[in-house]
Amino acid sequence: MKLLFLGDVMGRSGRAAVTARLPKLRADWALDFVVVNGENATSGAGLSAEHAKAILAAGADCITLGDHAFDQKDMMSYIETEPRVLRPLNFARTAPGKGARVYTAPGGRKVLVAQVLGQVFMKRPFDDPFSAIDGALRAHPLGGAVQAAIVDIHCEATSEKMGMGHWCDGRASLVVGTHTHVPTADAMILTGGTAYLSDAGMCGDYNSIIGMEKLEPMRRFVTGMAKDRFTPAAGEATLSGVYVETDDATGRALKIRMVRLGGRLEQAAPQ
Ligand SMILES: [Fe+2]
Ligand SMILES: [Fe+2]
Repeated sequence: MKLLFLGDVMGRSGRAAVTARLPKLRADWALDFVVVNGENATSGAGLSAEHAKAILAAGADCITLGDHAFDQKDMMSYIETEPRVLRPLNFARTAPGKGARVYTAPGGRKVLVAQVLGQVFMKRPFDDPFSAIDGALRAHPLGGAVQAAIVDIHCEATSEKMGMGHWCDGRASLVVGTHTHVPTADAMILTGGTAYLSDAGMCGDYNSIIGMEKLEPMRRFVTGMAKDRFTPAAGEATLSGVYVETDDATGRALKIRMVRLGGRLEQAAPQ
């Protein structure tokens, strides 16, 4: 299967990059399944129903969220009506929506997508992500119930992300990090056959501080004081993520390549 995972869509410029580029990528790269992290797509904080619909219409099969899952209040009800949107498995026991689901790709092939939040350096404590993901993977074994499994580990620390990669090695087709908005250069296939990348980076304007206009975050670093709100940077976004090819029989990864298209980042594509 040919999979594409795109990192955190950041505000209007991130949405514009996804809607402009994803339909063509789906066709050009013959993608079977596309996951997009949408936790910052609406004004940099959360995802509205309207913007979720636009990302789905552009060619996402599934949208994952993150710690900002419910910053846009209409997501509370929308997620109950739209199975293609997932919140983190371990967000809160009472949170609406689901954190893992099996989807159908072309040819009837089954794809598990699950997202978990990490615990290291996060703003509030979340339940253990390792036991949460363990349950989802045991219930949907690769090469059995599902032909591919994609795990989005949404957290700050690369150590926790690598821990999650190895914890899922051989049980997921791809473990990919989100949340930091900066892509890492460690795309690899782990020894058990799981494709791994510590962070997919954001789909956003990199002439920024992790997607926000530079001035206010810079001011807070320099003076220790807040003056304005954060606003998403509005320049051209880099579409940032990872492309993976898997073996349908085993669910294991055969190939992993970084994707960085448009905007300021050095460009990268599978071919
Ligand atoms: Fe994010
Ligand atoms: Fe986040």
